[in-house]
Amino acid sequence: MCGIVAYTGDRDAYPVILKGLKRLEYRGYDSAGIALVNHGMKIFKKMGKVAALEESLIGIELKAKAGIGHTRWATHGEPSDRNAHPHKSTNGKLTMVHNGIIENYSLLKQDLLKKGYKFESDTDTEVLLKFIEDIYLNHGVSLEEAVRIALKRVVGAYVIILLNEDDPQTLIAARKGSPLVIGIGKGEHFLASDATPIVEYTKEVVYINDYELAIVRPDELILKNLGNERVTPEITQLDMELAAIEKEGFEHFMLKEIFDQPVSIYDCLRGRLDAKIGSIRMEGVDKHLDQLVNANRILIIACGTSWHAGLIAEYVIEELCRIPVEVEYASEFRYRNPVVNEGDVIIAISQSGETADTLVAIEKAKENKAFIFGVVNVVGSSISRQSHAGAYTHAGPEIGVASTKAFTAQLVILTMIALRIAYTKKTIDQTRYLHLINELHEIPDKVSLILQETESIRRLAEKYQDARDFLYLGRGYNFPIALEGALKLKEISYIHAEGYPAAEMKHGPIALVEESLPVVFVATKDAYHEKILSNAQEIKARKGKVIAVITEGDTLFKEVADDVMVVPQADELVAPLLSVIPLQLLAYYIGVAKGLDVDKPRNLAKSVTVE
Ligand code: AGP
Ligand code: GLU
Repeated sequence: MCGIVAYTGDRDAYPVILKGLKRLEYRGYDSAGIALVNHGMKIFKKMGKVAALEESLIGIELKAKAGIGHTRWATHGEPSDRNAHPHKSTNGKLTMVHNGIIENYSLLKQDLLKKGYKFESDTDTEVLLKFIEDIYLNHGVSLEEAVRIALKRVVGAYVIILLNEDDPQTLIAARKGSPLVIGIGKGEHFLASDATPIVEYTKEVVYINDYELAIVRPDELILKNLGNERVTPEITQLDMELAAIEKEGFEHFMLKEIFDQPVSIYDCLRGRLDAKIGSIRMEGVDKHLDQLVNANRILIIACGTSWHAGLIAEYVIEELCRIPVEVEYASEFRYRNPVVNEGDVIIAISQSGETADTLVAIEKAKENKAFIFGVVNVVGSSISRQSHAGAYTHAGPEIGVASTKAFTAQLVILTMIALRIAYTKKTIDQTRYLHLINELHEIPDKVSLILQETESIRRLAEKYQDARDFLYLGRGYNFPIALEGALKLKEISYIHAEGYPAAEMKHGPIALVEESLPVVFVATKDAYHEKILSNAQEIKARKGKVIAVITEGDTLFKEVADDVMVVPQADELVAPLLSVIPLQLLAYYIGVAKGLDVDKPRNLAKSVTVE
């Protein structure tokens, strides 16, 4: 995973890199490190978060005009000072940061060991650096050429940036599979895993593509492919404001992002859905409408929370469009032999647009000539560029590791796509179409209403914070919300939680029910409401605790439940956009009550760029 930042120019590099690392910490926080050339190559690294590194550097002379930095999510070698990046070459003149995995590192390492190289860490990164060093020193080639030769032998995914003591203002960077953005300033360049460390300095950026190598000096950016041919850098304007990536007074990013939802959902609808004239316009969909409407089958691939959005989309698309839909974990899709035919549409859903499992699944589907439609939040990310068409969710930067506002934006996009297809295919009538457009239009205001009353959810969190396990149950459109509620709780509070279709409970999970087990019902009003009410009664009969997300005015469920979280009335097809909000808050407040770092839960990273 890892976050990488580098700078070359006239400023003091250290504060630029440090601040950048803090912004990228969501990508990994096992250790942090910085290398600067200041009377020789200096490397500072420390296990733990960026703040620990910063503290250890107080009072140290750190002046330099260029440098590289890294915040790690360990893949090879435990989190430790020793395994932290940057790593250095044997002669100490080269340092390197790396994001990704070198799959054939063990073979390369054996060769290097035979040649007498010694290793100070357990990482694949150090192996690659020493491999580059070996070519550089023994083959009489430039460092740039050595990097190129080495990368041709490497299997895996990487972004690397090298700093050279003998030419400290020239950074060499390369990418395959992991993300790299270069910000262009006046006589300076900023390199980072995403644009958040760059946006306060410049809006002009270049997204580096796979198999490209960048030679970056203060006033020059040279891009080449691995065949040593020049590539013209394509400059893109960043559409991101600094304020959008700061906490704006909230205690945590996760809370801020939950509260962002009325606006992020509105932003997602804006310019696309017009409730007054009853229309939906989405450029990526409109351009490829034939392909979507005539799809034999839609296959959705995603991971984690995005996969849950896919599960809801399955229900919505099949209901409205009468097109068969399958939802797959991207990781599973990649490693089996799925049947994908021409005429199939693949929808890839991803907040970060960098999830390696989803990216490789896309590659696989492309081999089978499928049409790829990306639903992605991060503009310019790899998945957005790998897709044939797509729609951005426009939720704004999501920094908290637990996905919240990106999820609701994904649901909005997927519902709009379904409506657009259904209307064209005439699989729904005009009245229902207009009704659902209006329902979507009203969602931001309804989410605002839920967010006005969070104190009762905070109290509920305190009441149940010591539970060892939780069950989450839902049916229909709300079944994936039960899964999502359980995932949020696991991630943020480390409490074991399972999500099930409510009716499945009697086929096994009911054995877990006892007095100390809270069971969360996602039970907003729908066509089969009385069924889920009976399920709740079955839990009560066995002395379990029933917590329920219910529609306002639902007195029957309120009577059965020990505690309720109330959401406004909505059509069952869009109800998940509301029922998920209290569950995000419940997980958040339980995490806070337990004194945990909700923005950076243990073992997780925001952007999972390793398979
Ligand atoms: C969500 O809270 C998770 N942290 C995680 O499951 C996430 O949804 C998953 O890794 C997929 O990420 P993506 O949407 O960026 O592809
Ligand atoms: N493989 C490198 C390490 O373990 C980089 C990890 C990553 O990018 O996640 O240190």
